[in-house]
Amino acid sequence: MDKKKKIPKVGLSKMLLNYSAMNENLVLYFKKIIDENNGLVKVKLPYSLVLTDRAEVIGHFLQKNNKNYRKTALIRNTIRKEIGNGLFTSDGDYWLKQRRAIQPGFHKKRLEGIARIMVEEINHYMDNVMDAYAENNQEIDLLDEMAKLAFKVLTKSLFGQEFEDGKINAIGEMVSSSQQYVMNRTLKPYLKPWYYVNGDYAENERLKKVRDEIIIEFIEDRKRSGEKVDDLLDMLLETEYEDGSKMSNQQILDETIVLLVAGHETSAVTISWTWYLLGMHPEVEDKLVDSVLENIGDKDPTFADVRSLAYPLQVLEESMRLYPAVWFIDREPLEDDEIEGMKIKKGEDIGAFLYGLHRNPAYWENPDEFDPNRFSAENKKKQTPYSYLPYGGGPRLCIGKNFAQMEMQFIVSMLIRRYKFVLSPDQEVSFKPLFTLCPSNGIKVRVEKRVLKETSPVAEGYEMPVS
Ligand code: HEM
Repeated sequence: MDKKKKIPKVGLSKMLLNYSAMNENLVLYFKKIIDENNGLVKVKLPYSLVLTDRAEVIGHFLQKNNKNYRKTALIRNTIRKEIGNGLFTSDGDYWLKQRRAIQPGFHKKRLEGIARIMVEEINHYMDNVMDAYAENNQEIDLLDEMAKLAFKVLTKSLFGQEFEDGKINAIGEMVSSSQQYVMNRTLKPYLKPWYYVNGDYAENERLKKVRDEIIIEFIEDRKRSGEKVDDLLDMLLETEYEDGSKMSNQQILDETIVLLVAGHETSAVTISWTWYLLGMHPEVEDKLVDSVLENIGDKDPTFADVRSLAYPLQVLEESMRLYPAVWFIDREPLEDDEIEGMKIKKGEDIGAFLYGLHRNPAYWENPDEFDPNRFSAENKKKQTPYSYLPYGGGPRLCIGKNFAQMEMQFIVSMLIRRYKFVLSPDQEVSFKPLFTLCPSNGIKVRVEKRVLKETSPVAEGYEMPVS
């Protein structure tokens, strides 16, 4: 191995000197030091972490040599303890067995049924919540609202529509308080003993127990009833291993919690950034409204419409390029490895910095500009491999990708037909990078009813062309 090619380092003392910049905005700090070090740098946090925004390097550890990489200690130890050993947190043979068994469950037929659940929930939300805001031209935080909507859509898709709202709210509170607890422990590990003294640990354990009891009871009820609901829980109950055996209640619980945690904040954050970007780019918003009306008019979308909602998807894809909800994916090498002639040491974590990858000028022209045209069918073909990974890459690619895309296409298309979100004049962009790239002050808007243009395909008096 060429000894001269060493990964540049930022030592602990420099990291400590930059503590306030790091604390203020970790994402921008990472971007700065990666840019200063030509796309690859080793930092001390105090454990060693290699950071990169280079497509080749990321493709290497997520895909080409993925067998040499596992989830990091943070996920294996801390997060697994909180949310169980489901697809996101498990590793090795057990993960592979689960992934092989569960993957077919996310097939087209299942998504067709789930599409109906999604549309019903979105309509319910608009009729019962957003309409009232629009009536009063109310100022709201779209991040809060999209979080509520995405969580409801996900829980109903998971547990079916008979799952009571009271239980959804209880689980929602437990999932977010547990997320906050993990975050506190991750950012301030030195306070761990304090959490035992101040009661946070005990409270978190209590909430987890209640959460698990609600879900297990629901699983048992469903098993007893033998009802077929076409939701994700049915999919998990029907999942069979190669030997024909089925998952235990504990395994179904673990997988359910992982789907809830991995699937709600990611979508909510993405949709919120999308509203922000649309507010900043009225010409794209107009084009989006026209394309939705041209393709589905004012009818409820179905699974069959997903393909024709191509422009909303382009807008969402471009929004995930600029603001990837999952902004960082890390792995731990099981053995020493070599990437581009540089040594990656066993046990030293390596992280794909997606925020930087998606704005790397080597792969994107005018990288900070919002231009959904980058994701037209034609332009997509020109993208550098591994330069765009909002759903990850390699065998651990997000299992909920099709689910999430459809959900977000439906939410954006259905809401934009009915409302106009006017950005608050003092809306600024800053991040609160937790596990997801959250806008730190939310997305503040005034809600108005959308007035359709006279030429719009569904404006009064206009007759839809018969195809
Ligand atoms: C915009 C929405 C979403 C984004 C940006 C997103 C992003 C990601 C990313 C980047 C990964 C890979 C993590 C890694 O390699 O370490 C991942 C994994 C995963 N996601 Fe998503 N996700 C989204 C929505 C969803 C939804 C809706 C679900 C469930 C219904 C879901 C379930 C999962 C699961 C279970 C994994 C782990 C897969 C495995 O390791 O086998 N995600 N997601």
